[in-house]
Amino acid sequence: MNLQVAPSLLAADFARLGEAVEIVNRSDASLIHIDVMDGMFVPNISVGFPVIASISRVAEKPLDVHMMVVDPGRFVGAVRDAGAHLMNVHYEACTHLNRVIASIHEAGMKAGVTLNPATPVGMLEDIIGDVDMVLLMSVNPGFGGQKFIPGTIAKVRRLHELIALSGSQALIEIDGGVDLNTAPALIEAGADILVAGSYVFKAPDPIRAIHDLRLLGENR
Ligand code: DX5
Ligand code: ZN
Repeated sequence: MNLQVAPSLLAADFARLGEAVEIVNRSDASLIHIDVMDGMFVPNISVGFPVIASISRVAEKPLDVHMMVVDPGRFVGAVRDAGAHLMNVHYEACTHLNRVIASIHEAGMKAGVTLNPATPVGMLEDIIGDVDMVLLMSVNPGFGGQKFIPGTIAKVRRLHELIALSGSQALIEIDGGVDLNTAPALIEAGADILVAGSYVFKAPDPIRAIHDLRLLGENR
């Protein structure tokens, strides 16, 4: 399968969010990544359900909602009603992860589990068969524009092995500090989807930037 790109709207100008969604619509991105933060799980607050609902009315790509909130299981219905296709919840934020993943599926969405940089891939052993995606954070979540943590490359390899051994169909998504310099090693290690915020929306031509990133993963 070819590499997928998921532009993160966190790096867009929120006063011109519609234009940013339009850019993603016209690009060869596969998903739109939306970062929800509660000021508790991460030290920042971003956007909530009314904003996701507005985006979903104009978006032509599936919405990948990354929940950086305490106890995200409380919001499965709200995320679905806002128009999300995929809900990513942090391993570190769920006491009953198995139940949360099941409820995301029952709500009709794809389910992803997200790991902070310090959480080992091995913690996924008993959930990997139940998720559609694993999102590995390559920065500490909460802010765009941070420096990529190089240890993520080895982590992608370990996750790739775990997925192969378990027979899971889970896709590997990476989030944080992704650009044309950090992407090649991630792709080589087995990443399927790359989230990119600053790289895309701070570029002079975001559509071109998305295309260039995607090209790195052609015919691998
Ligand atoms: C960070 C968010 C990311 C963020 C990535 O907590 O989860 O999705 O937008 O931004 P860049 O690509 O600028 O590192
Ligand atoms: Zn994110």
